[in-house]
This record gives sequence, C-alpha cells and structure tokens, in this order.
Amino acid sequence: MSPLFLVARSIEDTDLIGRCLAKYLPDGVTVSLNGPLGAGKTRLTQAIAVACGIPVHLVLSPTFVLCRVYEGDRTIAHLDAYRIQDDDEFLELGVEEHFGHRSITLVEWGDRVANCLPASQIDIRIAILENDTRQFQISSRDAALEELTNGLETDCSHLITTGHGGS
Ligand SMILES: Nc1ncnc2c1ncn2[C@@H]1O[C@H](COP(=O)(O)OP(=O)(O)OP(=O)(O)O)[C@@H](O)[C@H]1O
Ligand SMILES: [Mg+2]
Repeated sequence: MSPLFLVARSIEDTDLIGRCLAKYLPDGVTVSLNGPLGAGKTRLTQAIAVACGIPVHLVLSPTFVLCRVYEGDRTIAHLDAYRIQDDDEFLELGVEEHFGHRSITLVEWGDRVANCLPASQIDIRIAILENDTRQFQISSRDAALEELTNGLETDCSHLITTGHGGS
C-alpha cells in the first residue's frame, strides 16, 4: 500500500486515529511505531487499547519492562525496543510468540529491531510538526492490509494530508 499521511492537530485527533486503527487492524498484525521521544507512540497505543476494551491506566510505556500484554476484547502485546541492545535481546523476550497470533502487537521504536519483525508489519512513523500537531505516515508492504488504508481513508478523511517535513 502506498503511504497514507494523516495530520493530528490535537491529542483528540491522535485518539481518533487510534480508534480507527483498532477497528481495522486484523488479528495477528504487528505494528512498528517510530518517531522521536514524545512523538505519541504510547499515546496512540493507549487509544488503540481503549478501543479494545483495555483500561487506559494499564497502558504504560514499557520502557523498563520491555513487554506488556493487555487482555481486553482483544489482546495487545506492547513492546518497547528503545533500550534493546541487539536482536538477540529482543528475541529473548519471547516476542515471536505474539506474532501472527490473535493479538495485535505494537512495537515502539520498531526500527531498532526491524530484522526481528514479520515482513507483513504495518509501519507507522510519527513526526512532531509543532506543539500538539503530529503527522502519521502509515504504510505496509502487505497488499492484504489494503482494507486498513481504505478504512482509515473513510473514517479519518478530514485528517488526510499530502505529507510534509517534521522532526
Ligand atoms: N497530537 C498529539 N498526539 C499525541 N501526543 C500528543 C499530541 N499533542 C501533544 N501530545 C503530547 O505528547 C506526548 C506524547 O508522549 P508519548 O509518551 O505518547 O510519546 P512516545 O512517542 O511514546 O515517547 P517515548 O519515545 O519516550 O516512548 C504526551 O505528553 C502527549 O500529551
Ligand atoms: Mg512511549
């Protein structure tokens, strides 16, 4: 799928994108979340989790725990590769058991462990444009995930942008 660019001018817009992702992400999918510190990777994860019936207070940045699993209407595995030294350390977390199963797997700083993630992953890049504005670039090499793009284009049509620079 060609990248879809969405602009969130507020946290509420980010939450909407999270709800839409929860609606259209299929079971077993892995999402690589990338963007600078404070971009909104955890915030987006919280929005996805809430839409899956998981209390928001359970969804903390897994920076120290590295892997958290939340059970709701759907299961979410939330990983953070920020402090991972190498692929082996990441794989030792037992992360592969989550891939391709009924859970949605979300990996903050996924680029750092790109070799360990399934090829069919969804790639989300968040850029900080200014203050509360964030740009989301969403793409996947898996044509089967086209439904996700179509869903986002419909439900978040007012957030679509052509894409521009950011940090
Ligand atoms: N439109 C927006 N979307 C998401 N977060 C926003 C937005 N505007 C402001 N923020 C603020 O940006 C911060 C995002 O923090 P968050 O922990 O989600 O970032 P992160 O990408 O997970 O960072 P880290 O790499 O440290 O884990 C929060 O303080 C949030 O309130
Ligand atoms: Mg985070």
